[in-house]
Amino acid sequence: MRGQVSKPLFMITLLCAGSLMTTIICYVFDSNVEAQRPLPKKKSAPQPFDTCKGCSEVVNKALKRYSQTWKWQEENYKKFRSQLSSNCHGFDKAIITQANTPVGSKLAYDGDKKRTLQVTPEIFTTFIKENPFLNKKLDTCAVVGNGGILTNSSCGKMIDSAQFVIRCNLPPLQNGYEKHVGVKTDLVTANPSILVEKYGALMGRRRPFAESLRIYGNSLLLLPAFSYGYNTPVSLRAAYTTEDFESPAQAVFFNPDYLRNLSIFWRSQGLRAARLSTGIIMASLALEACTNVYLYGFWPFSNHPHALQTLTNHYYDDRKPRTVFHAMPVEFDLLLRLHTEGVLRLHLGECRPGEK
Ligand SMILES: *[C@@H]1O[C@H](CO)[C@@H](O)[C@H](O)[C@H]1NC(C)=O
Ligand SMILES: *[C@@H]1O[C@H](CO)[C@@H](O)[C@H](O)[C@H]1NC(C)=O
Repeated sequence: MRGQVSKPLFMITLLCAGSLMTTIICYVFDSNVEAQRPLPKKKSAPQPFDTCKGCSEVVNKALKRYSQTWKWQEENYKKFRSQLSSNCHGFDKAIITQANTPVGSKLAYDGDKKRTLQVTPEIFTTFIKENPFLNKKLDTCAVVGNGGILTNSSCGKMIDSAQFVIRCNLPPLQNGYEKHVGVKTDLVTANPSILVEKYGALMGRRRPFAESLRIYGNSLLLLPAFSYGYNTPVSLRAAYTTEDFESPAQAVFFNPDYLRNLSIFWRSQGLRAARLSTGIIMASLALEACTNVYLYGFWPFSNHPHALQTLTNHYYDDRKPRTVFHAMPVEFDLLLRLHTEGVLRLHLGECRPGEK
């Protein structure tokens, strides 16, 4: 399989160059921590296709690096994980718990720079009691991005074979998608904008939302409740809904302190983006919590690396992100670097029976 990778990837490079980058979709993943209001017009906000100037280089690199034989490199993994955990403490602190955030704590929002919130006893009751990763020795984790590269990939079984499966932004898993993306879910993120658009911000009937969570079983529903002010009420309503409907899923909240430190960490690695994508946040968390991290559905280009067909933006729709927050090719480049260093494994293309 690896032997087959290089030629089509080389072709895609030519293809991209030939089509003047106009078909390249730079932004694959939605962020679940992005603002719901229109992006303030900052000069620093990149335009979607401007940031793609380097796409052919990135794809070229993907060709060269991805086709090398992959091997898990314990030294590199340990080194990277220790950097990550000493700066971000994701294992203990990525998720707000009653243990790490007592009543009276002051949360400083990572998106709304000036906003803070003092934890009241009522809000405190919505926090999970203790760290969900504690006493769990996670060997393999799959982080499933929602990229169109998963379409018809037959990766479902392989994804589901991981001990812990992380998914982004309440993705659909039924009606034929199972075969390609799997169904097992241990943690799923939710962008408040989905709750607003699809479930009326949970201001009216909440049953449809509660029912939509069934496919995720007893997973953690991770919300960026304290990233922007308007995320908070709707995220709390999501938590009340899971409780009131006795949903097996449990709402948990991102610690804004973690998100801020993670953003600083990735900046130190060369990533300059207004916001990190959910994909890279979850990959980072997985690196702290699990020994073997496999990434699926991460491919920020508009053509399939093997078969070269045009890809949709997500495996379930072709909706483009509304706002331009992320630097996907740069994120991808960093993840590819970790792949070549044997720190994690990016999975591109189709899955075959027996492949690991
Ligand atoms: C984030 O960084 C600050 C400053 O270095 C530190 O005090 C804080 O403990 C860090 N938070 C987490 C969750 O790592
Ligand atoms: C995926 O496979 C189905 C069934 O074979 C086919 O109808 C569909 O066109 C394929 N989609 C893509 C994007 O290749």
